Amino acid sequence: MIKDLEQIKEFALQKIKEAESTDILEQIRVEFLGKKGKITEVLKKLGSLLPEERPKVGSIANEIKEIITNNIQKQYQIVLEKELQKKIEKEQIDITLPGRTYGNGHMHVINQVMNEITGIFIQMGFQVATGPEVETEYYNFESLNTPEDHPARDVHDTFYIKPGVVLRTHTSPVQMRVMEKTKPPVAVIVPGRVYRVDNDASHSPMFNQMEGLLVDEDVTFADLKGTLMYFVHKFFGEDTAVRFRPHYFPFTEPSAEMDISCTVCKGKGCRVCKHSGWLEILGCGMVHPKVFQYAGYDNEKYQGYAFGFGIDRMAMLKFAIPSINLLFDNNLKFLEQF
Ligand code: PHE
Repeated sequence: MIKDLEQIKEFALQKIKEAESTDILEQIRVEFLGKKGKITEVLKKLGSLLPEERPKVGSIANEIKEIITNNIQKQYQIVLEKELQKKIEKEQIDITLPGRTYGNGHMHVINQVMNEITGIFIQMGFQVATGPEVETEYYNFESLNTPEDHPARDVHDTFYIKPGVVLRTHTSPVQMRVMEKTKPPVAVIVPGRVYRVDNDASHSPMFNQMEGLLVDEDVTFADLKGTLMYFVHKFFGEDTAVRFRPHYFPFTEPSAEMDISCTVCKGKGCRVCKHSGWLEILGCGMVHPKVFQYAGYDNEKYQGYAFGFGIDRMAMLKFAIPSINLLFDNNLKFLEQF
């Protein structure tokens, strides 16, 4: 029986030495040391031996078990090391390959244009003000000299939230909110979203406006013209021509609309300017005395000018964008161009 055990040992050690994977070593462990393993088989026959022989054979069997276990463990480490080495070799990473990149987001073209415009006016000394998009009729209309029966309310196609409360149709209500809180001199610009019941290639129910308001002593229409011309030359380029046409707004008197020479054909006439050579870009005028009254300003002492224009329209003209909807569709192919 001892001979059997010795043989089993030699056989096992040989097998262990040749084992090339951890899986095989596990198989060997089961084959020799498992519940139905070769050593166990021998030990089962221990009962057939003389009682005095049993301890000796038993202890030899245990010794062999230990030797096999140790050898398996040693070989296991060696094989594991080799397997790891192989894995590393196989999985070698080619660090010269370019990595997977993810596109960086960037500011929306409207915000870019809004920031650029804001920057030009800040350079001139204007401060940025904002106001609520859900606005009372008082601020949106009444305090801007546009009483309820005023025909100018019709052209605004207003969204009503509830009686007396609207989505602001322009940024002009912020003029009043600023004046109520500040004493002259005042020089603010107001970027913000506005809403009108309107939807086609050049109109969206939500769009962005920029309001300007300056109040001080000795302010004239010439200051307004100079400021706006400076802005246009900065934003569209020095070669942009400007003209003012008389217009009507309830909250300015006199009022005007300002045109610039067409950004596409430079004034020669094309589809964008409807062959007129000019593009209408903003409304403006001298603050109406009635508005100063609502604000609590002394309209003998102070004069002011105000203007308002669409930021989206500015962006469309600057980059020749054919439809306002492109600005709000969130199509990345379009937006990534800016
Ligand atoms: N609020 C006017 C509009 O939306 C623009 C404007 C602003 C005109 C300030 C004059 C003065 O059409």
